[in-house]
Parts: sequence; structure tokens; C-alpha cells
Amino acid sequence: MKAIVLNQKTYQLEVQEVDKPTVLKSDVLIKIKAAALNHHELWTLLEKNLKSESNIIMGSDGAGVVEQVGEGVKDFKIGEEVIINPSLNWGLNNRVHGQKYEILGSPTQGTFSQYISISEQYVHHKPAHLSIHQSAALPLAGLTAYRALFTRGEFEPDNKVLITGIGGGAALFALSFAIASGAEVYVTSSNGNKISRAIELGAKGGVNYKDNNWRTELEGKVDGFDVIIDSAGGEGFVELCELANPGGRIALFGRTAGNIPNISPKTIFWKQLSIHGTTMGNDNEFKKLVGLISSKRINPVIDAVYSAKDINEAFEKMNRGEQFGKIVINMDEL
Ligand SMILES: NC(=O)c1ccc[n+]([C@@H]2O[C@H](COP(=O)([O-])OP(=O)(O)OC[C@H]3O[C@@H](n4cnc5c(N)ncnc54)[C@H](OP(=O)(O)O)[C@@H]3O)[C@@H](O)[C@H]2O)c1
Repeated sequence: MKAIVLNQKTYQLEVQEVDKPTVLKSDVLIKIKAAALNHHELWTLLEKNLKSESNIIMGSDGAGVVEQVGEGVKDFKIGEEVIINPSLNWGLNNRVHGQKYEILGSPTQGTFSQYISISEQYVHHKPAHLSIHQSAALPLAGLTAYRALFTRGEFEPDNKVLITGIGGGAALFALSFAIASGAEVYVTSSNGNKISRAIELGAKGGVNYKDNNWRTELEGKVDGFDVIIDSAGGEGFVELCELANPGGRIALFGRTAGNIPNISPKTIFWKQLSIHGTTMGNDNEFKKLVGLISSKRINPVIDAVYSAKDINEAFEKMNRGEQFGKIVINMDEL
């Protein structure tokens, strides 16, 4: 079969012939029709610090068609359209993943491939209202946003929510979930057009985090936030602590803007803020994510669909931060 393999000398992605995976008793063999990009793959391409010599096939997001099932598989039939939960081996503790935890795509072979064979535990039927491309956009960013907003952000229906860097894939899922739950949501972005598009999707307003006075501008629009969803960290995080209401929760899952300097301890303890790190989600949260997407008929925001042959260009676009939503890869064109 063909797969997009990471060349560990050039850190470019190359189409190569590799062995088709074997199908174990509890496995589902899926023909991948569409995959999607995530920022953690971009970190791998930029940071160039992998130690492994073996073929690495990245890709955490994928949707496709069941091609074959192992003899122990009960819930899936050949020809059904499915998505994959990329959060592998979470473990027994709902509060945090265990030591065997990994994200699909390294070391376990990922979705940038014609076929993947994976335990049926991680396979879910595609939400009926979504296309195969929309479905591929859902798993990693949707799961991360679900846990960040509902589990770690402890969202309640009358909460005011702030989501930073709204062009990001996970940020836009958080926006959809909060709006579908009746929240008043504000956003930040580096780009006025992205703020306008978020308002079209239902956000109340937004500010440009590149403006020096962005925090004051936001304070002029709204009286503090109960839940803040951040994937950037960096200097702006200090302002998020100031923007949080007493008792507020800040759910942080990314490092796009780097380390966080100079937070005032007094702000944290006097307002009794909860700063909650969060990563991906557990099996139960993935089921709830699929349920929410289906019951509220939420459509993932897709920035663009690239041919599999152009995947390096797709990552370059993500590196320039130009996207609004998920970048999807058409794997039929591999
Ligand atoms: N821990 C986890 O489970 C988990 C899961 C998913 C993602 N992540 C991490 O979360 C981050 C986003 O991932 P993604 O896949 O959603 O990435 P993405 O689609 O590439 O989005 C990145 C977004 O970050 C925003 N951004 C950049 N600099 C910023 C700043 N200084 N302040 C606020 N926002 C800023 C930009 O928003 P604008 O374009 O609107 O300016 C950009 O669109 C990455 O660091 C990624 O590694 C972690």
C-alpha cells in the first residue's frame, strides 16, 4: 500500500510503498479516505528531534471505510463509514492519562496512509450528517475542545466564554460547542477577518491579540469570563488571568506562543482561579463528543482540502498560521 512517510533526514513527507498492516482478532482494517492535520505534527516537522530509525507514518485524524474486520469484531461491518479516536491507551484514571498513553501517529502507525488496522475500541461510526472530509476533521481537535470546555473548563450554561486564537482547529470546535450550549462567546485572533468569520458562526465579538491594548478593548466589551480556552500560553496568558472572573477556569492545552512569564500569584489566589492543563480526552469523552456533534448537528469548520501529494504545502500553510479551521487531506489522491 502507499503511505506518507516522514523522511527523518529532510523532515519532509514522502509517498512510499510500505507493507499493508496485518489485521488482529479485535482489529478493524480501514481504507482511509480523508485525514486532517494537527499542530503537534507540525511541531515534529519543525523541531526535528525524533530518535527512531523506522518508518514513521504520522496522522492522528482519519475517516474511511471498513475494508476487513478481525474475527472478534462485533460492531462493524465491511463498507461502513467510520472515524478513529486517536487517544490510545488512556488508562483507568479519568483525571489524567496513564504512562502507556500515546497519540495515534507515532509510534503507532497513523492515518497518513491508505490503510490502518486498529482495535475496534477506537473505531466509531461516522456522524450521519457529516461528509467524509468533515468527519476526518473531527477526532483530535474535537476531543481536545470537548474535554477543555466541559470537563476541565467545567462549563455551565450561563457562563461567559473566551477562546483565544480562533483560527485554530481545536479553538473553532470549542467555539461551536460553547455556542451550541447557549454560551456568550468572545474570541481573540491575529486577524480581523477571522474575528468576523467567528462572529458569523455565532461569537458575540472579538479582539486582535496583536494590538497592545487588546485586554482593555475586551474589558470594554464584556465583564469578565467564567471559562477561558487557551492553546497559546506565552505572554498573553498573564492577561487571561486578569480577564477571568472570580472562580474562573482557564483550560490550557497548547504552547503555540511559548512559555508563560510573570503571572501574579495574588490574581490567582484572590480570584480563586483554576488553571487546568488538559490533553486530548478519554474513551468516554470521545463517545460524548460524537453524541454532541450528532445531536446538535455541528459541522466542523474546514479551511481547505489538499491532495495527499501536496501535504507538505498544507503543513506550510499551517506554519504560516493562515488557516481558519481544519486542513483536510484527500487520501483518495495518494
Ligand atoms: N494538549 C493537547 O491535547 C492538544 C491538542 C490539540 C492541540 N494542541 C496544541 O494546541 C495548539 C493549537 O493546535 P491546533 O491544532 O488547533 O493548531 P492550529 O490549527 O495550527 O492553530 C493555531 C492557532 O494558534 C493561534 N495563535 C498563534 N499565536 C497565538 C497567540 N500568541 N495567542 C493566541 N493564539 C495564537 C492562531 O490563531 P489566529 O490564526 O486566530 O491568530 C492559530 O490559528 C498547538 O500548540 C497544539 O500543539 C494540544
